[in-house]
Amino acid sequence: MNSIIESVASSMDCDNVELVEYLPYILQDFTEIGACPEVITDLVKRNTHNYPSLKILDLGCGKGSVSIELARALNCFCHGIDAVEGFIKEAKLFASEKGVGDQCIFETADIRERTKELKDYNVIVLAATGPLFGDYESTLKGVLPCLANDGIVIMDDWYKIKNDNFTHVRLFEKQEILRQAEAAGMLLSDEHIHEKTTELGNSYSEEYENLKKRCHELTQMHPQKAEMFKNYVNKQSEEYQILQNNVICSALVFRKK
Ligand SMILES: C[S@@+](CC[C@H](N)C(=O)[O-])C[C@H]1O[C@@H](n2cnc3c(N)ncnc32)[C@H](O)[C@@H]1O
Repeated sequence: MNSIIESVASSMDCDNVELVEYLPYILQDFTEIGACPEVITDLVKRNTHNYPSLKILDLGCGKGSVSIELARALNCFCHGIDAVEGFIKEAKLFASEKGVGDQCIFETADIRERTKELKDYNVIVLAATGPLFGDYESTLKGVLPCLANDGIVIMDDWYKIKNDNFTHVRLFEKQEILRQAEAAGMLLSDEHIHEKTTELGNSYSEEYENLKKRCHELTQMHPQKAEMFKNYVNKQSEEYQILQNNVICSALVFRKK
């Protein structure tokens, strides 16, 4: 298993683990840093019932945007966990601002350790985290003990476009993801394929400009790390092109077999 800082770096597409401590500064203008909260909320709505009684576990919750929207829209309880303390601080603040502070708990922890102690959640969300335990099979096996018997796992991720030659270390065929899920004891029960022009593209240029501005400020504060900040900005631009052109972005819903 990689270290917690390597896990965060990999989920945030950072080549350099040294950049992780600067992420809260770089991403200070963003409230959403991954998945689209409304899409996850719709999937929870159509795959569960009795919403106010739901207990939701949001693993790698970032700044809590998914949990906060779920708590707001469904009046349910959400528990968000993330390794980055700066994100958790903001999540708590946003939850209070949105009036759902009492329905949400946010904590700083390594998911791979904390999931050993939690159970009985009706919904587990893995939104834009990638397979945190190494691969999809070990990730789903790792979170399964936290799931109630009739619960669902929502995994917002990407997979290969059929018959396309594009490759990336973290990119797999959908069939391979489903095979690993089945090996973990889970079956696909629903899916939402993201509409790229609306769900991914809307505010991209504004967000990219903010990110560039923050990296520029950091370069002035730490000139010896200029190369690292420049590489991060370039990587984010590449990543966006990949999301738009080379992969299928989708939220998969799994249930126990
Ligand atoms: C791309 S962000 C997605 C955030 C959030 N789920 C969303 O969609 O807005 C990935 C998150 O996973 C967190 N993460 C990665 N590895 C982790 C680990 N081992 N334990 C806890 N959090 C982790 C990162 O800190 C980061 O906030």
